[in-house]
Amino acid sequence: MRIGLIGLGRIGAFHATTLAGLEHVEELVVTDPVSAAVDAVIGRIGKARAVADPAALLADGLDGVVIAAATAAHADLIRAAVAQGVPALCEKPIAGTLADALAVEAAVAESDVPVQIGYPRRFDPAFVAARDAVRSGALGRITTVRSTTLDPAPPPAAYLAGSGGVFRDCSVHDFDAVRWVTGQEVVEVYATGAVDPDAPHEMYAAHGDHSTVSALLTLSDGTIGVVSNTRTNGRGYDVRLEVHGVKDAVAAGLDEGLPLRSTQPGISWPSGPAHEFFMDRLAEAFRIEMGVFTQVAAGEVDNPCTVADAMGTTWTAEAATLSAAEHRPVTIEEVRAASGA
Ligand SMILES: NC(=O)c1ccc[n+]([C@@H]2O[C@H](COP(=O)([O-])OP(=O)(O)OC[C@H]3O[C@@H](n4cnc5c(N)ncnc54)[C@H](O)[C@@H]3O)[C@@H](O)[C@H]2O)c1
Repeated sequence: MRIGLIGLGRIGAFHATTLAGLEHVEELVVTDPVSAAVDAVIGRIGKARAVADPAALLADGLDGVVIAAATAAHADLIRAAVAQGVPALCEKPIAGTLADALAVEAAVAESDVPVQIGYPRRFDPAFVAARDAVRSGALGRITTVRSTTLDPAPPPAAYLAGSGGVFRDCSVHDFDAVRWVTGQEVVEVYATGAVDPDAPHEMYAAHGDHSTVSALLTLSDGTIGVVSNTRTNGRGYDVRLEVHGVKDAVAAGLDEGLPLRSTQPGISWPSGPAHEFFMDRLAEAFRIEMGVFTQVAAGEVDNPCTVADAMGTTWTAEAATLSAAEHRPVTIEEVRAASGA
């Protein structure tokens, strides 16, 4: 197969390695406006060839395209891929604004071209096992789901400025995991946030953003979801999900690399080293995700994360953003009604 890759920043460069590692990917066609980013990928990946821009890439007769460009570019790039008939996997979130996400949803709904949204936890073996445990009934009725994403260090200020805020950029992983693992939709969100007092003002406060947030989710059957995020977790990258039921409880992410130090006397678990970031903690999930996307592009399997499905996560992020800004619970119905959707 010949696969395109648009955007070669932090995650695009990582996806280049993952895609090039798939045996059935014979050629990787890449583009990024930053020539140093292109040179770095071309220099280390023999299968990669560069083209001038996304339009040239989408006109190259590719079997599929992975969109890993900055969030603000997602909506235009997804619509361009669909218009050219090129199956696409776009990194989360669907778009930088709700209006753009709704426009993408409408464009994709009118087309047969598959568009997969990149939520890698759906492919992490431990998250898959947690979902299976819920579905099998082994846990009994679910009372509580806790989902945690703690980044070790904030991205650059310029990235944060275009990220849409922590709920749309980071918490979406947790919102999506809670929805996907339980099979339930979020109906109400009560969120709050804090700003790192040591960070330069322009990083968070200038954009009305937060560095540490928490969100309480009420799911359709009354189950409570508890989401926790920070941009600065000193011990490492912490991605975890606990599901508690009336019969049993399971957790994904409790491995030796969990970045927590037990204060229990005599306990040496977890032995470390702690996970550093998504590149090590989720490497296997990304490898599976990219492999599945090539199968989606080839028409061999169903799309595991459609735009319509990922919109449930988008609505949750919109409600969380409004909730934290106004210090009150916000229903999904309220944000949907306000958008006119
Ligand atoms: N799934 C995950 O765990 C995960 C992790 C990190 C980032 N992401 C997502 O991936 C995307 C990129 O994040 P990043 O951390 O790599 O950001 P980044 O700022 O490091 O890189 C973005 C790259 O996109 C390029 N770019 C911007 N506009 C473009 C356009 N119109 N066409 C082509 N290239 C363009 C930039 O030049 C830059 O090289 C974001 O949407 C982010 O939400 C997902």
